[in-house]
Amino acid sequence: MGKKEDILLNILHEEQDKKGYISIEALKRISSQYNIPISRLYGVVKFYTMFRTEPQGKYIIELCGSPSCVQNESREIEKFIEKELKIKIGETTKDKVFSVYKTSCIGCCDEPPAMLLDGKPVTKLTISRVKKLLQELRKNKSKTKKPQNKIKKVKKR
Ligand code: FES
Repeated sequence: MGKKEDILLNILHEEQDKKGYISIEALKRISSQYNIPISRLYGVVKFYTMFRTEPQGKYIIELCGSPSCVQNESREIEKFIEKELKIKIGETTKDKVFSVYKTSCIGCCDEPPAMLLDGKPVTKLTISRVKKLLQELRKNKSKTKKPQNKIKKVKKR
């Protein structure tokens, strides 16, 4: 990755940190401010899964969809979450409490299936564990959430 790309990613991270997502209006502003074609900005934002272009739920769940987790029943967890929250992967619940995404390996292959909850790993998932977790988070939905870390911390192997 070149220095220009690093700078661009930092600008986009800063923008996302303000509201939790990068709106089209923000992309237009950055485009004109830094003289970068909006098509390039949009391409970068869509390429990196860490960037969001829509308002997000209070809690962000990113399920690992890589082989070790898939072989250990992450698809069952995925189906359960979709059914429980009445949304599909990539969507946000109507009450804006949860956004759910799929991600590639998060470095917790030794404890599958795994997911990130607001950037923090949660491992050895079972349906009953996830059910309990979702219920606890729903109870806490009115409580203020600490700001998310800008960069995901991934457990080292
Ligand atoms: S494959 Fe899921 S954490 Fe590595």
